[in-house]
Amino acid sequence: MSIRISPSILAADFTRLAEEADAVAEDADLLHVDVMDNHFVPNLTVGLPVVESLVKKVRLPLDIHLGVTDPDRHAPDYAEAGAGSVTIHAEATHSPVRTLRAIRAAGAQAGLALNPATPLQPYEGLLAEADTLLIMTVEPGFGSQKFLDFTLEKVRQARALIDQISRFGGRDVPLWLQVDGGVNESTIARCAEAGADSFVAGSAVYAGTDPGAAVRALRRRVDA
Ligand code: DX5
Ligand code: ZN
Repeated sequence: MSIRISPSILAADFTRLAEEADAVAEDADLLHVDVMDNHFVPNLTVGLPVVESLVKKVRLPLDIHLGVTDPDRHAPDYAEAGAGSVTIHAEATHSPVRTLRAIRAAGAQAGLALNPATPLQPYEGLLAEADTLLIMTVEPGFGSQKFLDFTLEKVRQARALIDQISRFGGRDVPLWLQVDGGVNESTIARCAEAGADSFVAGSAVYAGTDPGAAVRALRRRVDA
């Protein structure tokens, strides 16, 4: 099975972002950047200028997670800045089809995120417009929160749906099933078993002294 690991720089040292990105460049598949506006979530992180700088310095594709109130207005800017993928929240977008299409039209992969309490069913039809479905496994806003076990049921539902869509030839590009929040060496295998194939990990990668080794350790849990 092909998997992706996306270290979240929310847990990195913000004064040394390029070095922190370099530390995982050989082992990770993407670099996760949480853009938070102090409105959709109660935390404020980085915005477009930092992402534009990172795009020039970081070898990995940037995986932009927009925890913002108005993703319809802002998402295309991140795609145009050169992000590898841009994920918007279902709870925040007012025009998901238009915004997901605008992200793809600007050359990035498009992602749709669901908070822990948001059901999958109303969004099933939108998956044709997306390259990633992100199932939040904590409430978005902060790193180092405890993994919410009940979200695994939604990961299972999503996996069944995605497999069904592919079996009937409904797609010609992959649809990644991503989890974000509380993913560490003890929870990652359960996420994979439920059907996730893309894993965001912040504190599990950057809390220790060797981020590259931490990514390799996570990958071993899933490949095993
Ligand atoms: C939470 C963010 C996550 C965060 C995960 O709102 O979306 O990407 O960095 O951090 P950990 O892996 O520490 O739970
Ligand atoms: Zn995130």
